[in-house]
Amino acid sequence: MSFPSNFLWGGATAANQYEGGYLSGGKGPSTLDAITGGSHDSPRMITYQTKEGTIERVTRNQALPEGAIGYIDEETYYPSHVATDFYHHYKEDIALFAEMGFKCFRLSISWARICPKGTKEVNEEGLAFYDRVFDELLANNIEPVVTINHFDIPMYLADTVDGWSDRQTIDNFLFFCETIFKRYKEKVTYWMTFNEINFLRSWTQIGIHQNDSQTKYQAAHHLFVASAKAVLLGKKINPDFQIGMMVAYIPSYPLSCRPEDVLAALQFNREQEFYIDVQVRGYYPAHKLKQFEREGITIKKEAGDDELLSEGTVDYIGFSYYMSTVATATPENVTYVGGNQMPAVKNPYLEESEWGWGIDPVGLRISLSALYDRYHVPLFIVENGFGAVDIVEADGTIQDDYRIAYFQKHIQAMKEAITLDGVDLIGYTTWGCIDLVSAGTGEMKKRYGFIHVDMDDNGHGTLKRTKKKSFDWYKKVIASNGEEL
Ligand code: BG6
Repeated sequence: MSFPSNFLWGGATAANQYEGGYLSGGKGPSTLDAITGGSHDSPRMITYQTKEGTIERVTRNQALPEGAIGYIDEETYYPSHVATDFYHHYKEDIALFAEMGFKCFRLSISWARICPKGTKEVNEEGLAFYDRVFDELLANNIEPVVTINHFDIPMYLADTVDGWSDRQTIDNFLFFCETIFKRYKEKVTYWMTFNEINFLRSWTQIGIHQNDSQTKYQAAHHLFVASAKAVLLGKKINPDFQIGMMVAYIPSYPLSCRPEDVLAALQFNREQEFYIDVQVRGYYPAHKLKQFEREGITIKKEAGDDELLSEGTVDYIGFSYYMSTVATATPENVTYVGGNQMPAVKNPYLEESEWGWGIDPVGLRISLSALYDRYHVPLFIVENGFGAVDIVEADGTIQDDYRIAYFQKHIQAMKEAITLDGVDLIGYTTWGCIDLVSAGTGEMKKRYGFIHVDMDDNGHGTLKRTKKKSFDWYKKVIASNGEEL
């Protein structure tokens, strides 16, 4: 048998892309609620109000002027507001996950649903919502896997204290953690602190107005301290908690064996490994400290921060894997293709999705080995999947053989990593196991699910759920514990 008998097969989602219920049940607005839809060619835009009162927009990764606050108007369609409405469909959706045989389900808790302003005021109705969700999952023998914070922050914290650039946010976040840890301590064992921590560098994700390196790394330090404190607090509340970190892992290959290209690949890889180093090893790596020195970046730390980082290390590495990239010392000579948080360099050996994401199952085996060899802690693939346009046939079926083919190859790579490389892999949650809003483009037409949701890019649709061909296929994979692909 290749996969351990307790292997956590399942699917993954995030509140801002799936839940909807934008201001329902006392939820406050979050930064993501002010982001428009976009497409492969047109970026998502942040809507904001300037100090002077004018309403403006910038692309989702751009800086905002000082004093700007998030703004949500009535006329614009903001995809997070309804998303694919887990808020009202959770029972039906969980029943479908159970039918597929899910052992676990990854979701994120919306901070603004629990603490509407992100401060120390609790919204009981929000807590009760996740109680219902966890009870439903547990009744179906599905283990909840919770991302504490996935790509957004309560708008009030972005508007008033510049989000994670301000140290006060650590305290507010810890209050949120304490609230959910205490409330769900009997229901949730697996937690992850921040989704794709290596990509947190914009107003939408962490509420910072400026996104220069100084601001970004100072915010990262606050995120690291918050994560370490959350780990220590969580273990106090329930020593059985398994608390992980989460990183987007995109292995980089040298474009050629030219030593300069090899060095470029090493530098690319260690930029993402930096975030793992701090959360798994508990200290800043030497190369990062040298970079700070060179670039004049000064991280303001408080006494005790270094000890906290070394004590609050995580139990496992959760990571997303979608693609690999290529590194070269002469980046001006290469072609760039897709990627949701940054473009990747085209690899001539790989096919790409319609959004230009290179399909590279061997890269998954490489990632698993690289991470396990380096850190020796359990690994959890918490996102992997294929974003594609699905066609609903005249008879209502959706024949997504391309998605099945993608998963077959990636699960095979996982199998090899376990059986041939000895990697300790504890689970696999496919991204967007039910269709949801794309983080990168805000589209619905970029679909990842085994379950189709009738919703289009402009918010029109019945929200009806339909099983795709891949639904039965994944059910068989889980039933055979990965033996039948
Ligand atoms: C990851 C995120 O970056 O990739 C998810 O954690 C996201 O939130 C996923 O949805 C797929 O990206 P996209 O842009 O296709 O939705």
